[in-house]
Amino acid sequence: MAIFAANFKCNLTRGQTQTYLTELDSYASKNHIKDDIFVFPNQTALLPNTYACVRVGAQNAYCAENGGFTGEIGAQQLKEFGIDSIIIGHSERRTIFGESQAFVAQKFAYFAKAGFTIIYCIGEDLGVRQSGGVEKFLREEFVGIDTQYENLIVAYEPIWAIGTGVSAKLEDIAQTHEFLRGFLDSALLYGGSVNETNAGEILRVPNVDGVLVGSASLEISRFCKIIESL
Ligand code: 13P
Repeated sequence: MAIFAANFKCNLTRGQTQTYLTELDSYASKNHIKDDIFVFPNQTALLPNTYACVRVGAQNAYCAENGGFTGEIGAQQLKEFGIDSIIIGHSERRTIFGESQAFVAQKFAYFAKAGFTIIYCIGEDLGVRQSGGVEKFLREEFVGIDTQYENLIVAYEPIWAIGTGVSAKLEDIAQTHEFLRGFLDSALLYGGSVNETNAGEILRVPNVDGVLVGSASLEISRFCKIIESL
């Protein structure tokens, strides 16, 4: 059993997402897939979380029920779709949208209190990796985070491997996941240029419990091959 999560980011329309989810759910049920499958569509493509085998989750939300937060969606909007899983701390939120560790921790606390499954993302940039400060950097990304939260899934996504087509080396994944396992009991995902060719070997690395996939998840045939690769 593994966890397969698709992060569509700012891709695919609502119509395309609907077709994708219907096909993926029927693929998973026909093939008796017992793994946990999550899809995180774009916000305009949120669909009811009522599929038999696939969980629809939110890529992001504001830490409030509702209110004066222009451009955001809150817990009230997620509840309408029965959504109970969310990605928090993705490097694109941290770097492009300037989410600080304190803000990420505030979101985490809010959605943990609401009982959500949280895919909490961490990962260093190339400068940190080259300077040898990975463990210290990753430790700091847990400041304010309840690492004992029961519905926690951690995704290690080195920034230099995201969207580059070059995933981290198996030794680097093994070493970093072993470090994380030292203080985390949660499931540990790897993300960063996972595709149908490298997924099998990545999933066999010790302490890798699943993958978080961006670009290679956008085509359903590729995502299904990733699911089959274990
Ligand atoms: P890619 O698979 O496109 O590298 O993206 C990974 C990612 O950021 C998933 O959250």
